[in-house]
Amino acid sequence: MRDKIKNLKQQLDAVILAHNYQSAEILDIADYVGDSFYLSQVAKNLNNKTIVFAGVYFMAESAKILSPEKDILLPVIDAACPLADMVDVQALLEYKQKYSDYTFVCYINTNAEIKALCDVTVTSSNAEKVISKLNSDKIVFLPDKNLGEYIKNKFPEKDFIIWNGFCPTHERIRANSILTLKEKIKDLVILAHPECNKEVRNIADFLGSTKDIIEYASKTNFKNYLIATEDGVMHTLKNNNPDKNFFVPGLPAICMNMKKTRLDDIYFSLLHKKHLINVDENIADKARTSLEKMLELAR
Ligand code: 13P
Repeated sequence: MRDKIKNLKQQLDAVILAHNYQSAEILDIADYVGDSFYLSQVAKNLNNKTIVFAGVYFMAESAKILSPEKDILLPVIDAACPLADMVDVQALLEYKQKYSDYTFVCYINTNAEIKALCDVTVTSSNAEKVISKLNSDKIVFLPDKNLGEYIKNKFPEKDFIIWNGFCPTHERIRANSILTLKEKIKDLVILAHPECNKEVRNIADFLGSTKDIIEYASKTNFKNYLIATEDGVMHTLKNNNPDKNFFVPGLPAICMNMKKTRLDDIYFSLLHKKHLINVDENIADKARTSLEKMLELAR
């Protein structure tokens, strides 16, 4: 299967982008692996004709918006993001009317229609930088309340209105499971994603995107790390750091949507050019403004 994928990639001038949460078999064959920000930069700057996006819908959709001339393929069309679906256009329009003098900042985990109605997009790795450069003290942040609260605490002078969405996978990670493990392993260093709830964020030694977590573990010299984010990052963490120990609190946090893509889905995606992502031009134009503002301010 790996050889067949390689051949098809050459024929189609295609590359595979995989989010850090993909399963090991996908991470191992991907040309580029990273967090949402890194992958959106890669998608925009590549010269290849075809990109297979091993991730969830909003990621492939964002790649298409940033690179409309490329063929963007999402191997499993129903790989969705429940967090992205926690904001709908009607509710957002009501907010926009109510908070008409606010700047609307959306997490990249949103659908194109939502990005099209927002001033700027952010990811977990650039939200602080992007918001620090905005010429506004009034921010509506959507849809993740945990990332929103985390960012709000960085800007005590700004007025934040935060949407009530959450990532079900991160929400399942519990502070008491972490503390139970820390009782047993005293020198445990806790690395968490800001999508975790407040109790987890409060006991974390380091908070960052999946890429930030992977880099932190590689650059520091501790022995024992606890990883509070989706389980996919464990593959890269263990591969890159064979002498370090990585623990998870309780059962591994698994995003079923991220794990839907298998090797044969990648193969059939290339073979049948499916599923080709298309975004309504009018919506894409507006969403592109929001995404490109992120790329510009995050520099
Ligand atoms: P990253 O910014 O680390 O890629 O986070 C992505 C994400 O969707 C977390 O659920």
